[in-house]
Amino acid sequence: MDDLRLKFLDLISKTESEEALEVLRVQALGKKGEVSLRMRQLGQMTPEERREQGPALNALKDEIHAALVAKKTALKNKALDERLRNEWLDVTLPSRWRPRGSLHPVSQATEEVTAIFSDMGFSVAHGPRIETDWYNFDALNIPEHHPARTEMDTFYIRRAEGAEEPPRVLRTHTSPVQIRAMETLGAPLRVICPGGVYRADYDQTHTPMFHQVEGLCLDTDTSMANLKWVLEEFARSFFEINNIDLRFRASHFPFTEPSAEVDIRCSWENGQLKLGEGDDWLEILGSGMVHPKVIQAGGIDPDKYQGFAFGLGIDRIAMLKYGIPDLRAFFDSDLRWLRHYGFSALDIPTLHRGLSH
Ligand code: PHE
Repeated sequence: MDDLRLKFLDLISKTESEEALEVLRVQALGKKGEVSLRMRQLGQMTPEERREQGPALNALKDEIHAALVAKKTALKNKALDERLRNEWLDVTLPSRWRPRGSLHPVSQATEEVTAIFSDMGFSVAHGPRIETDWYNFDALNIPEHHPARTEMDTFYIRRAEGAEEPPRVLRTHTSPVQIRAMETLGAPLRVICPGGVYRADYDQTHTPMFHQVEGLCLDTDTSMANLKWVLEEFARSFFEINNIDLRFRASHFPFTEPSAEVDIRCSWENGQLKLGEGDDWLEILGSGMVHPKVIQAGGIDPDKYQGFAFGLGIDRIAMLKYGIPDLRAFFDSDLRWLRHYGFSALDIPTLHRGLSH
C-alpha cells in the first residue's frame, strides 16, 4: 500500500496537464484502477485483515483524491496566471480611436439644409456639373445673346473644330437641375438640388467653385407667400435662432418673375457677426416665381402649374453660421483649418436634436 501511495503521489506531483491528471485518476481510482482493485480484494480477506486494511485503503483513496484535487486546482491557477500574463490590456490606452477625418463645413451645411427641407417634404435631386448650355441657359430663359451669360463669368468647355455635340459649360448655378427634375419627376414637385457650381471670380467672398442649393416647388396653387414662409422657416431652423429677420428685395432673374433677392438682418460688433439683430443686411439667396417659359422647357404645362424657386449659397450660409471669415479658406485644404472647423462624421444632423451639435 505504501508503494501505491508513493507511486501515485509522485506521479501526481509531476503531472503538468489536466488531461494527464485525469488519466492518473482513472489509473488509481477509476473502476478498474489500482486502488479500486485493492478495495475489491477486501472481500477475500479475513475479517481481521479487513478491519486493518479497510480503513487504511480508504485513507489512501482519500489521500490520492485530495492530491488529485489539489493538483487540479494548482494547474488551473497556473493556466490562469499564464493567461493573465499574456493577455494583458493597457487600460490607460484610449478605448476608441477618434476618427481622424472630419466633415467639411460645406458638407455639414449641406446635410443640415437637406434635413430641414426633407422635413418640409422636399426630396433631393442631382445634376451634372458639366452641363450643356441649353440646360444652363436656354431652358432657363437666358437666350444666346442675353447679358446674363457674360455676367455669370462662365467657364466654357473647349470643343473640337466642327464638333457636332452641343456646347458645354461648367454649370454656373444649380438652376439647370430645375429643368432636369421637371423632366424626370413631373408635377406636382418639391425638390432641392445641392451641388458645386463654377464662375470665373476670385476674392474674399468669391471662389471659382462654390456651392449652391436650388429649391423648386411646383403645384396648382403655389404663391409668393409660400416661398416666403418656406424660406423663413428654413432660416430659423438652419441658423437655430428664433428672431431671424429676412428682407425680400425686388430683383431680376430671367428664370423667375417676379424675382426677389433675400437678405438676412445682422450686426457686426467688435468683428463678431450676430444674426437677427442690428442694422446690416447680408444677401444669402435669389428667388422668385418660376417663369412660365421655364416650366414649359421642363415639359410641364405652365397654365396648370406654377411655383417658386430659389438658389441659396451654401458656402455663404456656412460662413455665417459657423463664423468663418474668408471663403477662400474653404478650398485651401489646410489640415489645421479643417481640424478647427470640421465636424464629427458621426454627428448626423437632425431637427429634433439641434442640427449642429
Ligand atoms: N440661379 C440664381 C443664381 O445663381 C439663383 C436663383 C435660383 C434665383 C432660383 C432665382 C431662382 O444667382
